[in-house]
Amino acid sequence: MNNEKAVMAKVQEINASTSKDRVEVRVRDLLDRMSLEEKIGQLNQVEASADNVLDLLGDDIRAGQVGSIINQVDRDTVLELQRIAREESRLGIPLLVGRDVIHGFKTVVPLPIGQAASWNPQLVEACARLASEEASTVGVNWTFAPMIDVCRDPRWGRIAECLGEDPVLTSVLGAAMVRGFQGASLDDPSSLAACAKHFAGYGASESGRDYNTTNLPENELRNVHFPPFRAAVEAGVASLMTSFSDIDGVPATANSFLLRDVLREEWRYDGLVVSDWDAIQQLCVHGLTETRDEAAFQAASAGVDMDMVAGAYLQHLAGLVASGRIELETVDRMVANVLRLKFRLGLFDSRPVLADEPARMTSRSLAKEAALQSCVLLKNEGRALPLDPACLDHLAVIGPLANEPAEQLGTWVFDGDPERSVTPLAAIESLAADAGMSVSHARAMPTTRSLDETAFAEAEAIARNADVVVVFLGEEAILSGEAHCRADIDLPGAQVSLVKRLKAVGKPVIAVIQAGRPLTLTSVIDDLDAILFAWHPGSLGGAAIADLLFGRACPSGKLPVSFPKMVGQIPVYYGHKNTGRPPTPDSIVLIDDIASGAAQTSLGMTAFHLDAGYEPLYRFGFGLSYTEFAYSELSLSAVRITPSETLTVAVNVTNSGEVEGDEIVQLYLRDRFGSVTRPVRELKAFQRVTLAPGETREVRFSLTVEDLKFYKRDQTRGAEAGKFDVWIGGDSAAGRKAEFTLTQDSPAMA
Ligand code: NOJ
Repeated sequence: MNNEKAVMAKVQEINASTSKDRVEVRVRDLLDRMSLEEKIGQLNQVEASADNVLDLLGDDIRAGQVGSIINQVDRDTVLELQRIAREESRLGIPLLVGRDVIHGFKTVVPLPIGQAASWNPQLVEACARLASEEASTVGVNWTFAPMIDVCRDPRWGRIAECLGEDPVLTSVLGAAMVRGFQGASLDDPSSLAACAKHFAGYGASESGRDYNTTNLPENELRNVHFPPFRAAVEAGVASLMTSFSDIDGVPATANSFLLRDVLREEWRYDGLVVSDWDAIQQLCVHGLTETRDEAAFQAASAGVDMDMVAGAYLQHLAGLVASGRIELETVDRMVANVLRLKFRLGLFDSRPVLADEPARMTSRSLAKEAALQSCVLLKNEGRALPLDPACLDHLAVIGPLANEPAEQLGTWVFDGDPERSVTPLAAIESLAADAGMSVSHARAMPTTRSLDETAFAEAEAIARNADVVVVFLGEEAILSGEAHCRADIDLPGAQVSLVKRLKAVGKPVIAVIQAGRPLTLTSVIDDLDAILFAWHPGSLGGAAIADLLFGRACPSGKLPVSFPKMVGQIPVYYGHKNTGRPPTPDSIVLIDDIASGAAQTSLGMTAFHLDAGYEPLYRFGFGLSYTEFAYSELSLSAVRITPSETLTVAVNVTNSGEVEGDEIVQLYLRDRFGSVTRPVRELKAFQRVTLAPGETREVRFSLTVEDLKFYKRDQTRGAEAGKFDVWIGGDSAAGRKAEFTLTQDSPAMA
């Protein structure tokens, strides 16, 4: 065939195919025209933040040695880098432009753990959409989010970036983030390719220390850590990132069980797998491989397509192919995964490099709504909140985090603009001015970590003259996030002492806590009349907090993660196993109650701590409101179901208080007996409902056999016949209970 005929044949082939096939045909066509060096270039992601990046990278891009850049957000520079790739490289292959756009870009929305407290997938999707619309204006087309590592250890700094301790909540919200980033179509100019990370098990880093080893049996991986990734794959996530951690002796970046057997074979994933930062090179540091070429070999063989900044593929893959250790077919598969994403993003077609700016006002109202729904009211003694401006003349606003435009944004805000922040102090002052109330402010501490108490006297004086004290406590943004782990998760510095001093003044003390993780609040809880936990609430956090404090909005957030009483309880999470000796209130004896000379067997002999009992300080799913919700008995459509039947479980929820409020109605199951032991409760579904005072609404949930399935002793997924308990309530320990029976096993399936 002459050249013209070959092109015509290709065009006919493309026209005849579906859009998915069309992408495959185009990928294949391009692959056929690439040299080995150009293919390997596509697997190479390079750091591009330097000011002279055009000088540094221009020639490499021209030579086809760069498939993706990370960390360049100057729009003109991105434009020029893409122009070089498209116009000056031999095959004109555009670049993937990656950036960690995790919880907002310029406009910052609450931390992911805060967004998770909203239990609102639509809101979470909208937040991701906003981030994507803003980031795509500077040419970013790939974000490294969502992070869907299930985490049950608040010492781990990255808990700020995750969606909590529960596989179902993380799955639902993670999939919502994927939809938000990727939009209706990946080739929309305002869509970003999402990246589900970190596959897998990163959230279980030993002792909550980042990058640490994990020890996760396969059954726990499958039942707890994999489901959010499976949900992301089903939601069409464009890419996945490997975890830094070593899992059962094989770092995730070289783990073919994870990347081939599970991801590609079982889940049929056809997207891109990228290593984490320098993680291929770090296989040597882990002690898995002695040399970098062996590291490149292991990562490529295991299924890592793209090398994030290590340069190991660029340096070693050609040699590995030449020596026959890596087959050309393997390289082609890896490159196809990169090219497929570039085609799906529309980078070869008419997608402009830069998207149009989204409307600023819409961003602000969304950021405020997200902050409103992410705050969790943990304590409200004697209805200390909401504050009634009509009854207050003077308010004391105290603490190191009342007026910190940058700190309220939280971790992962490379691009966040503190100028867009409304701080709590600013919002309270503006509200107070309207209500004729005066506000005095004392910072009391230079930072949350300071031990200097010299400014406490001024704070006490202000408190003395006020009707109510609102104290802004917590952690600065730098105390959580990647590599920012803490072994002690109490309020840092002299904050506990500040609370005690303010309490001694005798006025009601309300704490607003901004932090990137659950904190152990045991030492201050009795000194505070109310606690509003705001996480790091983002740009409009202050405005949301002020509205909540003054009852212009009603708190509705519920905890996506348990709060321990003390660090020694960790891990403490609601979905634990029962054990052979489960504790009950009657079976425990606390340290102060032990009689002297007590016999060895007198202490209950169940699974508890002598100094902490067995319950967390605040449980998963918990959060107060300014109103109250009453739940009826459950009504079930049947008490025996076959695997093909759907069970409907309904409950009447009544707003029995005096203001309108949102309740997050939660359904939990317990599979009483299984071929492997099952958790004491598992969240299966939830709904947010808005109820007027006095209003009752029936909330219905449909359960199918899919909700009853789990990974069994043989590591296949299925449901086993037997009895189940079901609860519907307002948190993971609440709710009316009913029972039903599944009459037969469901067929085993992968
Ligand atoms: C390391 C982090 O673990 C990962 O989550 C992030 O996306 C990459 N660095 C890129 O910055």
